[in-house]
Amino acid sequence: MSLRDALRLPATEITDEAVYRDRRRLLAALAASPALALSGCAEADPPAPKLTITPQQVRSGFRTDETLTRVEDVTSYNNFYEFGSGKTDPSKARKTLRTSPWTITVSGECAKPGVLDMADLLKGLTPEERVYRLRCVEGWSMVIPWLGVPLADVLKRFQPTSKARYVAFTTLADPRQMPGLVYRSINWPYREGLRIDEAMHPLTLLATGLYGKPLPQQNGAPLRLVVPWKYGFKSIKSIVEIRFVEKMPPTAWNDLQPDEYGFFSNVNPNVDHPRWSQKTERRIAGTASKLFAERIPTRLFNGYGEQVAGMYRGMDLGKWF
Ligand code: MTE
Repeated sequence: MSLRDALRLPATEITDEAVYRDRRRLLAALAASPALALSGCAEADPPAPKLTITPQQVRSGFRTDETLTRVEDVTSYNNFYEFGSGKTDPSKARKTLRTSPWTITVSGECAKPGVLDMADLLKGLTPEERVYRLRCVEGWSMVIPWLGVPLADVLKRFQPTSKARYVAFTTLADPRQMPGLVYRSINWPYREGLRIDEAMHPLTLLATGLYGKPLPQQNGAPLRLVVPWKYGFKSIKSIVEIRFVEKMPPTAWNDLQPDEYGFFSNVNPNVDHPRWSQKTERRIAGTASKLFAERIPTRLFNGYGEQVAGMYRGMDLGKWF
């Protein structure tokens, strides 16, 4: 199925998991390795060392043999505060969030700013499936087969200038579609940001689907980030604006609680959240009687250290949490 076709399917149409797993085995056997080009790191504040990893090392991060989280849990246990703060509130998005047509503005420090609709944005890009862990700051995690395109491939089209040291992302904030906006739990719109080298890193995915289908609204349709080595809140949903900026941009959670949520938010068992430990996590296990599995140790950079640690060489991760 082409991405164009996938995007036309209603998000509620979820593949039967057993069928999906068989198809996935076949796809994995057929999949050609994507050509990867590592971009150089822009100097930033704090300075980023040049990343030296091979394409093979990067590709080794694209999948895992760990047990996948059940699709029904991936789509029913969510964080999407625009629809409320409860884990089941985001499922309301199915009824109210209109994801087509959808435009994304790209502006700031780039030679070719533009306004794009989804089809334009994805023109010429072949979506690929990647199985990533998503570790939330609250201590739970999931293993999800995402469908998407490398963020770098999209960003390069706008020709960021040397002043583009960071990339800022903004979610839609429409009270008619998002009932949770009446609560000032967050200073809306939801915003996130990455340093340019993080945004250009081959593991950073602009996700358009999961489990082989278009993204359901509650997971951030039609387009969201997935940054697998960072806490889940960096993976901003339903993006309407991307901006190249020179200064570290404000982000929703940092704005709210700067002592608790730093800009970088790399998964790090050695840096506790001020109110709880980050040393362990529980996978969403997915049975009716037992939602969480036993605790397992959390790994530095969520287990993606081989691919990303070089970006933070020389940085004090306790200070830049
Ligand atoms: N993006 C927006 N716009 N609003 C949100 O509330 N929650 C974040 C992130 N992206 C959030 C968001 C948090 S805290 C997490 S853990 C992940 O989305 C959860 O993604 P999932 O529901 O697809 O598992």
